[in-house]
Amino acid sequence: MRVEQIGDCTLYNADCMDVLPTLGSVDAVITDPPYSVSVAGSTVTGRKGKGTRNLDFFKGDTDWRGMTSIVGDAMSLAIQKGPRSFVAWCGHRQIGRIVDELEGSGFATRLIYWRKKCPPPSPPGAGFCSAAEHAVYGYKPGRQWNGGQYEHNVFDADSYRFGQPGKVAHPTQKPFALIAWNVRVLTDPGDTVLDFFMGSGTTLVACAKLGRRGIGIEIDPGYFDIACKRIEDAYKQPDMFVERPAPAEQLSMLGEAK
Ligand SMILES: C[S@@+](CC[C@H](N)C(=O)[O-])C[C@H]1O[C@@H](n2cnc3c(N)ncnc32)[C@H](O)[C@@H]1O
Repeated sequence: MRVEQIGDCTLYNADCMDVLPTLGSVDAVITDPPYSVSVAGSTVTGRKGKGTRNLDFFKGDTDWRGMTSIVGDAMSLAIQKGPRSFVAWCGHRQIGRIVDELEGSGFATRLIYWRKKCPPPSPPGAGFCSAAEHAVYGYKPGRQWNGGQYEHNVFDADSYRFGQPGKVAHPTQKPFALIAWNVRVLTDPGDTVLDFFMGSGTTLVACAKLGRRGIGIEIDPGYFDIACKRIEDAYKQPDMFVERPAPAEQLSMLGEAK
């Protein structure tokens, strides 16, 4: 297992099922498992030979029952870390298991949505293109809430296009603005956020830029390297006016260490 500490972010290159039991408490989980929408062996080339897309995204993802079972088991371990807010971006086949895990552990749940004004073309034969994705949001009393009374459960953002600034070599990189919205509304500076399906590290990039502590777990060494690089870059240029968390020793003197 490889472990990297970059600023206030701890990154594990490992299977989340091995790392989760070893972690301490966290304030929130914001994660994004494989959606179980992969098409085995599929490579699609767009019109006029442009825009090749590989739709066979992650190992094991074409077996949706198997992947849903992994997601549910990992969630059950993560819930034991005591988060009061939980966001799981997910595929439609996974909603039932994710809701079941959360409601069974005392969370109330709702759906939140990502709307794409300019969605990518539909997979072959699918008809509808994916202009919206959803996350199950779970919350418990005492959670952090930085949104107003009229905070919408729909967020507008577009997927990265290849070649666009900020796009990295990960097939399902989430828009930074979308995940930063989750982090900003559901946590305070200094809180600890866990993403156990880290991918290219978008959740931890948001943590680095918004002054939260981040814990990320990614099984694929190539994506792990991409995440490390993005987080290093994020610390070189954090957002203005965001306070970094105080060092742990300083907090523990006040009896507030997390
Ligand atoms: C949907 S992607 C996450 C994308 C991420 N939100 C981003 O913006 O880049 C899911 C990631 O989970 C990883 N993964 C799959 N199974 C895993 C496991 N058992 N433990 C840790 N990571 C896993 C995959 O390699 C993939 O990179």
